Amino acid sequence: MEDINIKITDRDGVTHEIVAPTDMAMNLMEVVRSYELAPEGTIGVCGGMAMCASCQCYVTSDTALPEMGDDEEAMLSEAFDVKDNSRLGCQIQMTPEMEGLEVELAPES
Ligand code: FES
Repeated sequence: MEDINIKITDRDGVTHEIVAPTDMAMNLMEVVRSYELAPEGTIGVCGGMAMCASCQCYVTSDTALPEMGDDEEAMLSEAFDVKDNSRLGCQIQMTPEMEGLEVELAPES
């Protein structure tokens, strides 16, 4: 079992240091939900299907992440508050390589 340390800044600007498991097939959106860093109903609305953008976050560390898939790219092209470093949390599976990842949750849209 391998846990990684990541930092998540919530929508109130508070940064949380989180320990995330990499052996439970969790994605970043599910990690945010399990630590209750965003109110229920404001994140993960589509259940992780890349269809709502409620899990949008900004990646602020230079951690190498998997390439965006077509669904993620398409959703982000329609979402609000998108920046160059935007990603959909539900499309990012936690892996040991993501040790030190830092993200900021995008505003609720
Ligand atoms: S949870 Fe809907 S796009 Fe990620």
